[in-house]
Amino acid sequence: MDPHLDGTVALITGASSGIGEATAVALAEAGAAVALVARRRDRLDELAERIAASGGSAVAIEADIADRDQAEAAVQRAVSELGRVDIVVNNAGLMRIGPVADADPVDWDQMLSVNVQGLLYVTRAALPHLIQAAADAPRHVADVVNISSTGGRVARPGTAVYSLTKFGIGAFSEAVRQEVLGQRVRVGLVEPGTVQTEITAHLPPEDRAALDRRNAGMVKLEPSDIADAVVFMVTRDRRVAVNEILVRAAEQTW
Ligand SMILES: NC(=O)c1ccc[n+]([C@@H]2O[C@H](COP(=O)([O-])OP(=O)(O)OC[C@H]3O[C@@H](n4cnc5c(N)ncnc54)[C@H](OP(=O)(O)O)[C@@H]3O)[C@@H](O)[C@H]2O)c1
Repeated sequence: MDPHLDGTVALITGASSGIGEATAVALAEAGAAVALVARRRDRLDELAERIAASGGSAVAIEADIADRDQAEAAVQRAVSELGRVDIVVNNAGLMRIGPVADADPVDWDQMLSVNVQGLLYVTRAALPHLIQAAADAPRHVADVVNISSTGGRVARPGTAVYSLTKFGIGAFSEAVRQEVLGQRVRVGLVEPGTVQTEITAHLPPEDRAALDRRNAGMVKLEPSDIADAVVFMVTRDRRVAVNEILVRAAEQTW
């Protein structure tokens, strides 16, 4: 086990699959106790057992972060069960696609409520704990890592509202970075390209087919590729703030 994060606690939203799951495993391997937040309890329990079996420490916290009370309670539970929070990875998110003129506004509401509001609720609830952790931890630093997307840098037809949420996360991250840097809390943005996860599993078959056509022949990233970027960001010396990492699939054009 890499000891870089020994004695720290990391909270990861969307830890029940994909990038969040891989990030929780990687942070636990680096020595952090991990608070696993998502709605699918069975997935979280299974992951917590897997981490414990590898010598790590994990607690499963079932919560819908789009609900402010649940988001705040999830942070409080992480603190009460694990004693502190040094790292928050705001990863939970979803994508719906299609032209704006044909869209079902329910899809917009879902993206805004999880990708944006959920991230805001978790961040606000966690910041006092992160500031406290930065003040009393041996590392003397704490971290917020927000998972954006290439869609947070480049807007394209069909993903207007998804991009809106991810561009918004970029703006929010930069403002909060400036607000808390004096309290030794770093804020970073990780922007994945196309990653092989369940993110398209909830799309209608015709939308999945459209994405498959767009991605045809391209080797996708693995969730662990993004977890590597998160671990790199949070294991730098306290004098170093790696505020942004873009990780594209090597053959990705956008
Ligand atoms: N895959 C890609 O190509 C890609 C590219 C760029 C950026 N991203 C971003 O990476 C992040 C993770 O996506 P992924 O690709 O790993 O997809 P994924 O496998 O579908 O994971 C999404 C995670 O978000 C959680 N989640 C969704 N709604 C939630 C809610 N209301 N409350 C709590 N948790 C919720 C899900 O858990 P439950 O369903 O159990 O709640 C799941 O753990 C997202 O922010 C996504 O936008 C992905």
